[in-house]
Amino acid sequence: MSKASMTQRPPAEFDAYAKGYDSGMDAPLKALAGGGADDFVAVKVRWLLRWWPELRTRSDLSILDYGCGVATLMRLMRAAGISSPMTGTDVSSGMLSEAARIWPPDSPPPLFQAQDGAGTGLAPEQFDLAVISAVLHHVPLDQRTLVYAELHRLLKPGGRLVVFEHNPWNPVTKYVVTRTPIDAGAILLPPPEVTTALRGGGWRDIRSSHLMFLPPRLGAVATAAERLFGWLPMGGQYAVTASK
Ligand SMILES: C[S@@+](CC[C@H](N)C(=O)[O-])C[C@H]1O[C@@H](n2cnc3c(N)ncnc32)[C@H](O)[C@@H]1O
Repeated sequence: MSKASMTQRPPAEFDAYAKGYDSGMDAPLKALAGGGADDFVAVKVRWLLRWWPELRTRSDLSILDYGCGVATLMRLMRAAGISSPMTGTDVSSGMLSEAARIWPPDSPPPLFQAQDGAGTGLAPEQFDLAVISAVLHHVPLDQRTLVYAELHRLLKPGGRLVVFEHNPWNPVTKYVVTRTPIDAGAILLPPPEVTTALRGGGWRDIRSSHLMFLPPRLGAVATAAERLFGWLPMGGQYAVTASK
């Protein structure tokens, strides 16, 4: 079967990883570099806050986390002081129920919404920010356009998109992905695949930036490296931003 003709992985496959999902910390090298699963996701939250500081000072920005898994990103966004309303969607109902089960009781919860394929069934033009983090590499090549189109439909005019992905140009990332069970069958995408697709989909202000040059456990040193080398396409992860 060619990669392009691969069919959508059944959502039930992701259900199997929901209980105790720890962002691939079962890959030995990642466990060594990390700290814990939250440390890897916290890098993205810090990046988001540097990119759009108003996320912390405003409470009226509606935020979508598409393919939210067990909602680690939204949980850490709340912990970082982001109080705006949040919605998390996923194709895996197992991931969504686990996300709701482990959500901290003292933190305003997101709305959780099950997807049917790329479609969310949500009303159009309601979000100021849509984040899709570590999801597209699970989406078959011929269905990725549907995901971008759904995100475009859901954002308000002028709304912002952030795509976080594993960087296939980073050998450590490639090594970790091949040893992470949830990533079996994943097709990593280099930054130009995202930027080209977004250009073709009518998005504006498309930019790439790179993160995770050093293990998250190095804290401030790792953040300083991102500030210095964000232009260098060698980080473990990358972010592509665009607006509608
Ligand atoms: C590696 S996890 C990432 C979860 C979360 N975004 C994060 O960064 O922690 C991948 C998630 O993508 C979801 N997923 C896979 N295919 C998807 C699709 N076509 N649309 C939305 N979510 C999808 C899986 O169910 C899983 O929860």
